[in-house]
Amino acid sequence: MAACEDRRVPAKVTLANRRMSAFRLLRVARTNVLETIPELATWQTMVSGKIFKRWHMVMDPGGIRRMLKENPEAYPKSEAVKNLFKPVIGNSLFVAEGRHWQWQRRAAAPAFAARNLKALAPVMSKSASRMIERLSAAVGKEADIHMLAVAATFEVINSVCFSGEDSMEFETVQEAFEKFIDDAGRVSLLDVASVPAWVPRPSRLYNSYFHRRELKRITDPAIEARQRIGRRSPPDLLDLLAEGEDPETRRRMNNDELRDNLITFILAGHETTALTLAWSFYLLAFDADWQQRVRDEAQSVLEGRVATADDIGKLVLTRQVIDESLRLYPPSAMLARTAKERDTIGGRQVLPGDTMFIPVYALHRNHCHWSNPDRFDPNRFADRRSIDKFAFLPFGGGMRICIGASFALMEAVVILSSIISRFKFTLVPGREPEPVMILTLRPKGGVRLLVDAA
Ligand code: HEM
Repeated sequence: MAACEDRRVPAKVTLANRRMSAFRLLRVARTNVLETIPELATWQTMVSGKIFKRWHMVMDPGGIRRMLKENPEAYPKSEAVKNLFKPVIGNSLFVAEGRHWQWQRRAAAPAFAARNLKALAPVMSKSASRMIERLSAAVGKEADIHMLAVAATFEVINSVCFSGEDSMEFETVQEAFEKFIDDAGRVSLLDVASVPAWVPRPSRLYNSYFHRRELKRITDPAIEARQRIGRRSPPDLLDLLAEGEDPETRRRMNNDELRDNLITFILAGHETTALTLAWSFYLLAFDADWQQRVRDEAQSVLEGRVATADDIGKLVLTRQVIDESLRLYPPSAMLARTAKERDTIGGRQVLPGDTMFIPVYALHRNHCHWSNPDRFDPNRFADRRSIDKFAFLPFGGGMRICIGASFALMEAVVILSSIISRFKFTLVPGREPEPVMILTLRPKGGVRLLVDAA
């Protein structure tokens, strides 16, 4: 629940310390899914139970590696996740399975390759400049850094997808997105009971149709216009995706597939990156020493400029802060899979149909993997080789690992370093954000900080 009373520990969720009835679980899940995680999940590597059907929470890195990397075909994304997303983003990369996922992933991969990402970086620097302008107007006052970060990352994804032309109005997309999040937050009793997907969920169906129509209304004309005008130079994400070809099947995306994947990138990409930034600024306001260290680094590397792709490798402390923020407040705080086969995970027997949760929030605060896990300490990431890849999963792992991870990290480093080199942030007493998961891990009440010139 609320911000932590221990002043050395930043805001955290109060996890469940007693067993909940199905009814209570549902009620708690509606306000904050994370409060349904048993506290035990931060001390043990497996927690199992049964509510309508069997479930397991896996915090064992070896077990997670088996599910995501070694035997992923046996653990497809859960039906509840697919039911939620499919009506809005179609059968795109995020939800597709099997061959239909594979060819899309191979076709989209070049768009996110390092050489193309570097060409997209100037858009991130430009967006950092605009955020600097907005913050300049807030000097001496309180500002909601989360909202400013959402505007910045939306500008990036919008420009990167559509080169700034044919662009989408921020308010329209934001509104459709907020409504979608709102609906998603209302965890359906039918989902929890795992009633099959073909049983209609009336309000969900109606709302999803509405969101999809709104998002299509914006993206379809942009795709058609691009086909008339031809590719941009340098190519943007829409061009790269349209040119992407699966080397094995030679298949390319048709207009519907292009649209569904673009909508996916916009929904999956901008809010998660904004959250990473918002929580990072909160943590730096929480810890004045680290704020100064990161500022010193940014000022010495950037010398008054905004950051570019070439600076990334030198902004080492900035990246450590972002990693620590992704550990404490992973935007995708809970992953879910459904077991298809009999298996053993973390020493427990798994049966076909079991729901497998990877509670990333609890994994990242598990005492078996992290010392003083609730403490903010970016030094943990000074030597990345010391961290088990499957104990730190902000971007998931294995073959379904986030395709936009490098894009998001580049954006976060560019924006955070550019801003912190010019501004100082202080917590507003009594206004600490509350971590609440409704689809993503958001700061309830925003991240309200006092802004000063550095
Ligand atoms: C800090 C920012 C981000 C975070 C924390 C994040 C997190 C994640 C996670 C955890 C997954 C795996 C979900 C699972 O296995 O169930 C995922 C998948 C995905 N993400 Fe991200 N993401 C971020 C940014 C982005 C960006 C910028 C884009 C695109 C522009 C993007 C597009 C996707 C797509 C398409 C998938 C599905 C990949 C597949 O299944 O092949 N994400 N993301």
